[in-house]
Amino acid sequence: MAIPVIDFSKLNGDERSKTLAQIANCCQDWGFFQLINHGISEDLLERVKKVSSECYEFEREPGFKNSKPVNLLKELVEKKSDESLVEKVDWEDVFLLSDDNHDEWPSKTPGFKETMKEYRAELKNLAIKVMEAMDENLGLPKGYINKAFNGGEEEEEENSAFFGTKVSHYPPCPHPDKVNGLRAHTDAGGVILLFQDDVVNGLQILKDGVWIDVQPIQNAIVINTGDQIEVLSNGKYKSVWHRVLALPEGNRRSIASFYNPSYKATIEPAKELVLAEKKLNVENSAKYPKFVFGDYMSVYAEQKFFPKEPRFLQAVKAV
Ligand code: OGA
Ligand code: NI
Repeated sequence: MAIPVIDFSKLNGDERSKTLAQIANCCQDWGFFQLINHGISEDLLERVKKVSSECYEFEREPGFKNSKPVNLLKELVEKKSDESLVEKVDWEDVFLLSDDNHDEWPSKTPGFKETMKEYRAELKNLAIKVMEAMDENLGLPKGYINKAFNGGEEEEEENSAFFGTKVSHYPPCPHPDKVNGLRAHTDAGGVILLFQDDVVNGLQILKDGVWIDVQPIQNAIVINTGDQIEVLSNGKYKSVWHRVLALPEGNRRSIASFYNPSYKATIEPAKELVLAEKKLNVENSAKYPKFVFGDYMSVYAEQKFFPKEPRFLQAVKAV
């Protein structure tokens, strides 16, 4: 089984309604899909790959060699214990880029900052287009999701949605059966756009109780929806469990950009969708409570790798 692939350019032509229907089906049944012909130039993507790999080699690899996962795995193996797994760490090197931390971005790799700035601007636009397709598929006014993420405003400085980019590498692992690349979780936020390695696999999603690979496709962008889209859509678009395996060969690069609500935004099921349920005489027509996203993130920080269901109510209690 493979993750569905959508030609995003067809959204603007004769096949618009068919493409929208494909996206709707992916959001409902998969929670993950891959976009090709998404409008981001091959040239830019090639440059992103280049500067990310160079950055890893020049600025990150020395640190990874002496990192917590490496040391814990070494200890476990050297003790030759039957302890089967290194718990509570992931076999990854990761750092975050956002508009708020420009001065912490890697600065020694030529072209890194400029390229990633350009890339993030393009990806942010793509995120907005993807959210608009979701608005339309859900029967919500255009811009609904983005507005909700911006605290109900069109776009306001103070309360604006957060766009972050996580640059990760999953280096080859000498004992891949004893540690996870990234432990299984659902994503907390809104829409995630992942530019994964062209050849090294490792990312898997849980589909109908079975882990399946997100097959690498050169220069595709993988889309998935987080817990906040699940809430806004009143459970129609479920956030899906995924994980990254540690592997003995290859250094997997993965650049995940996430479009999240402002920490101050109030998140709740869209009124239109709750009303539609009510008309069908469904009891408890709102399937999720209302909470402030920042409170949800406080809960998530403690419980990322646990079942998601209790988190929603706990976020309410934290208000
Ligand atoms: C994440 C994630 C997958 C990857 O950062 O939440 O699931 O391939 N990343 O790095
Ligand atoms: Ni994730």
